[in-house]
Amino acid sequence: MKSGEFEFGDRIQLQDEKGRMISFTLAPGEVFHTHKGFLKHDEIAGREDGAILVTSSGMKFQAFKPLLSDYVLGMKRGATIIYPKDLALIIGFGDIRPGMKVVEAGAGSGALSIALLNAITDSGTLTSFELREDFLPVAEKNVTDFFGRKPSNWKIVAGNFSEARDRLTERVDRVVLDMLAPWEQIEIASHILNPGGVLIVYVATTTQLSRTAERIKEIGTFSEPMSFETLLRPWHHEGLAVRPEHSMNAHTGFLTIARRVGRDGVLPRRRRPAKGAYSTDL
Ligand SMILES: C[S@@+](CC[C@H](N)C(=O)[O-])C[C@H]1O[C@@H](n2cnc3c(N)ncnc32)[C@H](O)[C@@H]1O
Repeated sequence: MKSGEFEFGDRIQLQDEKGRMISFTLAPGEVFHTHKGFLKHDEIAGREDGAILVTSSGMKFQAFKPLLSDYVLGMKRGATIIYPKDLALIIGFGDIRPGMKVVEAGAGSGALSIALLNAITDSGTLTSFELREDFLPVAEKNVTDFFGRKPSNWKIVAGNFSEARDRLTERVDRVVLDMLAPWEQIEIASHILNPGGVLIVYVATTTQLSRTAERIKEIGTFSEPMSFETLLRPWHHEGLAVRPEHSMNAHTGFLTIARRVGRDGVLPRRRRPAKGAYSTDL
């Protein structure tokens, strides 16, 4: 079949006339039931991506293969996921590219794992550490369903990221941390990163942000960390009514990014400390 057509094994996302979405995997012989008729999977296979499908009782759906962002928002969760806008910023600012060796912790529900695997392609490798055994099958199922198979370049490890130095056979290009206490793991991240590698830390609160950034500076093997809050403000547009949406997720998180320096160490910054930065200023 052509890539612009649905085939068995594909995820399919249906949107009705009210904008409600439902998604499932296309399988031979299966039937999708609605309150207004049914759709046979066998009749969906071979249809064009983006087609309008009509049930046996005339209900209409626009059908697409889901985007990564649609998929992660719709998938079953164990732990809280990283939202698509933050996934995009992690991939972009973390400069995560095909062929790279990446480590993440914790795997949680696997949303970040999916985005990382997508970015590194088959030529890269991803190792995901997860402390909680009960989250492993959730992440595994979500990743496997997204790619249609368990990626052979993905290793999910049941255990603490603090064991990463012993459990990895080589250094990596990127480390991404999304956990409650990332500042406890900065030293390990430093040990496993190649010189020039990038550490990316996602946190939700200012106290986590501060502890993480200070630990990165203290350890002496990273460049000056850069931190920013990530906001996305959706807009409504209908004729002349062009305005921000009435509701938005005002806050999801902060990203902190730093480079692993080489053997020469960190070039000290020449600057005056900000007023009030340290208690001795008071
Ligand atoms: C917010 S969730 C991660 C969600 C994930 N990034 C996603 O997008 O689906 C945080 C996860 O980190 C795990 N965790 C916390 N500390 C850890 C550690 N030191 N090593 C490995 N996993 C850890 C927790 O069990 C939890 O599942």
